[in-house]
Amino acid sequence: MGYAVTTSTTHGPVMIDATAKQGQASALPERFVVAIDGQASTGKSSVGQKLARRLHAAFLDTGAMYRAVTALCIERGVSTGDDAAVLELARQADLSFDWSSFPPKLHAFGASISERLRSTAVDGQVSVVAAIGPVREFLVERQRWTTHQRPRLVTEGRDQGTVVFPDAMAKFFLVADPQERARRRCAQNPGADYDAILRNLIDRDRRDSSRAVGPMAVAPDAAVIDTTRMTEEEVVVHLETLVRAAAGRRVAREER
Ligand code: DC
Repeated sequence: MGYAVTTSTTHGPVMIDATAKQGQASALPERFVVAIDGQASTGKSSVGQKLARRLHAAFLDTGAMYRAVTALCIERGVSTGDDAAVLELARQADLSFDWSSFPPKLHAFGASISERLRSTAVDGQVSVVAAIGPVREFLVERQRWTTHQRPRLVTEGRDQGTVVFPDAMAKFFLVADPQERARRRCAQNPGADYDAILRNLIDRDRRDSSRAVGPMAVAPDAAVIDTTRMTEEEVVVHLETLVRAAAGRRVAREER
C-alpha cells in the first residue's frame, strides 16, 4: 500500500505516493552528495544511515566531528570559551573516519572516540564549540575532502545543504515537534529525564540557528520533511524516492 506524504519546498507542497514512485528507481550517478540537515533529534542520523545503505553510499555524521572536539576539550581541560585553544586541539586530534565499519567510527589522536560522544556533558557544550568560526572552517574543509575518498555520500548536519555542499544532488531538512523529539530520545534512553531533554533540544536548536557562522538553516532548494507523524521507515522510503527522482533529473540533464 502506498502512503501519501506532504513535502514542502520553497515552491510549495507536493504530494507523493512513495511506494508507487519506488518502482521508478533511477540509476544513481557515480558521484553524488545527499545533504540531510535539520533540528536536533529528528532522526537525521538513523535515517541517513539507512538511506546510505539503500543508495550504496557512505554516511558522514558531521555532528560527530563537533562532538569529538567538545569531548576532547572536556577530557583535556581545554575551555570551550578559548577559541584558539579549541582550534589547536581540533587540528592536533587529526579527526578521521574509519570507513571499514558502518556507520564509520570517528578516530581522534589515532583511536576511536565514537563511544565518548553522547554524554550529557558533550550535549551541554557542543553548540558552544559549533559556534566557533575557525573551528567550523577547519571541520567544513575536512567534510568537503571526504568526497575524494567517498564519491557517493549521504551527509547529515546543520549546514550541509547551505554551506558545505551547496551543489548537493538532493537536499533535505528534517523537522518534528520538540515534544515528539524528546519522547523519541527518552524511548532510546529509558530512565532519561524528559524535561531536561526537551529543554536541551530547544536550547540547542535556538543556539544552532542563531549563530553567526554556518547557522542551521533551510537551503532554498531543500525539501522540508516534517517527521512528527511518520515512522522512520516511512521517512527513509520517502527520501529515497526523492533522491532517485533527483538522480533521474541529473542523468537526463547530463545526457542532453
Ligand atoms: O547532530 P548532532 O546532535 O550530533 O550535532 C551536535 C551539535 O553539533 C549540534 O548542537 C549542532 C552542531 N552541528 C553543527 O553545528 N553543524 C553540523 N554540520 C553538525 C552539527
